[in-house]
This record gives sequence, structure tokens and C-alpha cells, in this order.
Amino acid sequence: MKNVNPTQTLAWKALENHFSVIKDTEMKTLFSQEPSRFEQFSKTFSDQILVDFSKNRITKETLEKLQALAKECDVEGAINSMFMGEKINRTEDRAVLHTALRNRSNAPVIVDGKDVMPEVNAVLNKMKKFSERIISGEWKGYTGKAITDVVNIGIGGSDLGPYMVTEALRPYKNHLTMHFVSNVDGTHIAETLKKCDPETTLFLIASKTFTTQETMTNAHSARDWFLASAKESAFVAKHFVALSTNSTEVAKFGIDTANMFEFWDWVGGRYSLWSAIGLSIALSVGYDNFEQLLEGAHAMDNHFRTTDAENNIPMILALIGIWYNNFFGTETEAILPYDQYMHRFAAYFQQGNMESNGKYIDRDGNNVNYQTGPIIWGEPGTNGQHAFYQLIHQGTKIIPCDFIAPAVSHNPLSDHHAKLMSNFFAQTEALAFGKTREQVDAEFAAAGKDPKTMDYVAPFKVFEGNRPTNSILLKEITPYSLGALIAMYEHKIFVQGVIFNIFTFDQWGVELGKQLANRILPELKGKESVNSHDSSTNNLINRYKAWR
Ligand code: F6P
Repeated sequence: MKNVNPTQTLAWKALENHFSVIKDTEMKTLFSQEPSRFEQFSKTFSDQILVDFSKNRITKETLEKLQALAKECDVEGAINSMFMGEKINRTEDRAVLHTALRNRSNAPVIVDGKDVMPEVNAVLNKMKKFSERIISGEWKGYTGKAITDVVNIGIGGSDLGPYMVTEALRPYKNHLTMHFVSNVDGTHIAETLKKCDPETTLFLIASKTFTTQETMTNAHSARDWFLASAKESAFVAKHFVALSTNSTEVAKFGIDTANMFEFWDWVGGRYSLWSAIGLSIALSVGYDNFEQLLEGAHAMDNHFRTTDAENNIPMILALIGIWYNNFFGTETEAILPYDQYMHRFAAYFQQGNMESNGKYIDRDGNNVNYQTGPIIWGEPGTNGQHAFYQLIHQGTKIIPCDFIAPAVSHNPLSDHHAKLMSNFFAQTEALAFGKTREQVDAEFAAAGKDPKTMDYVAPFKVFEGNRPTNSILLKEITPYSLGALIAMYEHKIFVQGVIFNIFTFDQWGVELGKQLANRILPELKGKESVNSHDSSTNNLINRYKAWR
């Protein structure tokens, strides 16, 4: 991958100039000047996903200039490097190949001179057989009963992805009850275990490293709980499996490596739901649906890899994101799914994006002099509308938003879906076009209101509009379309990371907190007062010790 400071490119300078010209242009004007704006600024993926990016503060020229930036930063070369298995995660000396996990074409992918596809396929096959045995009831617990409950113990990428997907695909669920335990707060596992029976519960210990404090603590508590009933440690094999890259630690924990579902260092934690980490998905919705998820992602991979920049959906979304983040100076992006099953989607991509592109050191090891990854947040609509949309509509900050919704609901209950969708359409319309003083006055007049009251209240009722959104309309949320949607966002993050000239696939920024917590943990024992830190930390620890 080429290391290019994006701000030193010709395209960046051209974008700065272009920004000064069009920064105040109203979308209203753009829409009235361009009758075919929707056709020009929307793309459909595989007759499944319509991405409408017309309600943005962009023109054809903006996109062309952004595409020139991608070219100067050699995004195309970087895409090839990733798919070809080059070690683009240089700070960890690793390839980045979540795309190989869903490489349904089975074309060889070479890492260190070896095709990884046979191993990928072998693990998928093992997941298929295992999930079928659990779902059919052929696999028995230690007292001969079938499994009814599955507890995935993991955190970060080993939790958010599988949890988000199993929730999003609930309509495809079988009889197994799924639980996800992530927090080291004992409440999480304690409350979960209250709902489970040791005779019929299967634990998936999901950890790439198998050393993560939270996961290993929860895993030990789960095993203690299980052995309190089962007594015999030999029974652990019937109730505990590991999803990991680290067979040594798995064996140390006491899980037979025959019950380990392997993955590899070239799978980043936050990109791992396509690997063995997705076993909870296969268990929850069946292996065939898991395979459809992979198929959808693979189709998006092909689109991303082979489509020119002008028509490449993840690329377009990434470039529009950079336009706001780096030229308008927006700080955050909201992801707003109008689908209750998608309630963890924003949380999933909060890790996906922020752990990937939250970096201030560039690929040459220098501090960047421009903004990198945005803050990602969001909640499902319409709940968010009654909580934080006020600020999106009338606050002083611009918040680019992605609105996501399915045309077909899995729960066609009376007119719920029509109402949900009317809100989905209304919000982006309101955000783009707002409401003028004239419209407000006309409404008052029509209601026969006193002009004095009207004059005072009117400014509060005006909406400036010109607030950018993407509308992402899916035909229906299926395993296939969800797979494609997730891959679309993954590639958006990738493109932005390439242009930011940072390393998207490491996460050194999470280490310091872990190190300090390990240093503090022994200090929390006993009564002695602690004075090895700054005065704030010392006093907090000492008050904690005094109060417990
Ligand atoms: O804390 C960061 C992190 O390393 C994430 O990148 C990862 O998804 C999570 O912890 C869990 O890691 P593991 O799967 O190794 O337990």
C-alpha cells in the first residue's frame, strides 16, 4: 500500500477550493436544478439494496473530485493488496482476509505461500456438522438431554458481531435460546445463568486470543457453575466449545481441542463474525442461513473489488463520509436502522469503525494533521426520533445520518410497517428541505393564530434543513441482504482508512487501559491505602476500599 498524506494531494487542494464554493449551497437548490438528481445519485445492489445518496451536499463535481482523491491515494491498489492477502496490517505483520472467510468462489487466497481456502472450508464444514447435531438434538448434554440454551461468552468483536446478527435474523430463529455474555461485571453472567439449566446449556467461549480478561473470567465462572452440578470435569467436553486462534490457551482452560473451532491471525476481531466466531449465528438460524450471510457478503466483496469508482457503493459512501468529516468538519455519524431487529447494528459498527479508524498516527509513524475516523452512534427509529433527533434537526452541529429500512417487514402487523416507513421517508425529507419562515407563517395563519404570538414563536418552528442523509432501503432483511449490508460498511471503513493513511486493522489504543487495570487489580486487595498513582486515582481507589 502506498503511504500518501491525503492533504498533500492535488485532489485535496481541489476539494478545499470546491468546498469554499459550494459549502453553503442548499440541497433544495440542487434538487430543483437537477430533475434527475435521484437517478444520478443512487445505486442499487443486486436488486436487494437501494442506496440513495442524493440528499447530500454534493454535486457531480464533488464526487469526481473525491474520486480523484481516492485515485491519488491508490485505493484501488490497496483493495487489491487486501484481497490478495498482502500483510497490510503492518504493525502486527498480518494479512487482512475476512473476505477469504466468505470467498464462496473458493478461488485460492495465498498467505505466506499457502492457500488458506482448504482450512477455511474445513472449519465451515465442522461448524455445519456441529450446528446440525446441536439443533437436531443428536448432541446430548451430560445427563443425556438435548441442548436448549447456548451462551456465547466473548467481548468486542467476539460478541458484538454474532449478537447483532442473531438479533437481526431473529425471524429465522430455531428453538435454541441464545444468550450473550460480555461484561466482566458479574451481573451479566449471574443474570444469564439464572435462566439456564446446566444439563441443557452449551457454552461457546469466543475469544480470538483466549486471554481477554473479561471473557476468561466469565468462562471460569460458567465452568464453576456447570461443575457445581455436573461434578465431573470430563463432562465439560459436552458443554464447552472454544472459538479461537489459540489452541494452547484453549487446552489450558480444559477444553478438548477437538471441540475448538479455529480461525487465524489474519481475521481481525471486529471482522470475525464470518469465521468460527459466527458459530452462535449458525446455531441460532441454522447453517444454511449462515452460508447465505456469507454469500451476501461475498457478492458485496465482488462488487467492491470489480466496480469502477463512480459506481462502487462502499467507495461512494466512504468518500461522502470524508467530505463531511474532513471538509465540513463534522465529528460524528449516526446509523439509524428503522428495524427493531437491527437494534445492535449501530453498536456493532461503533466498534467496526471507531476501533478501526480511531488513530492519530499515520502509516509512516507520524502524527496526522487532519481528522481521521468519525464518532459512530445511533439507535433504531422511531425511538431515536423521540430522544435525540431534536439536535439533528435544529442543533448547531451537522450530523450526517444513514437511515436504513426494509421495504418488507417480518411482522406485517396492521399498519405498523407503513407507519414506520412513513417516518423513515419523512425524516430525510425534513432534514434535507426543512421548513421556511413563510411555511411557518402560513401554518399560523391557517390556524387563525394571533400575529404577536406568531412573531415570537415562529423562529423556533423554522427548520433550516440542508442536513445530509443517506437512505439505505433493503427489499427485506434476509441473511443474504444483511451479509451484503455489513460488508458494504466494512469496505466503507477500509476505503476511509486507506485515504486517512492509517492502519485500520490494528487496535493498540485499547492496550494501555488493559495494562493499567492489571496493575491496579492486586492493589484492590486488603485494607492498605494506595499511593502509587496520581492523587485522583489514589483517592478514588482508597475511597472504593473504604466503602466496600
Ligand atoms: O479490546 C479490543 C479487542 O482486542 C477487540 O479488538 C476484540 O474484538 C476484543 O478485544 C476481544 O478480543 P478476543 O476475541 O481476543 O477476546
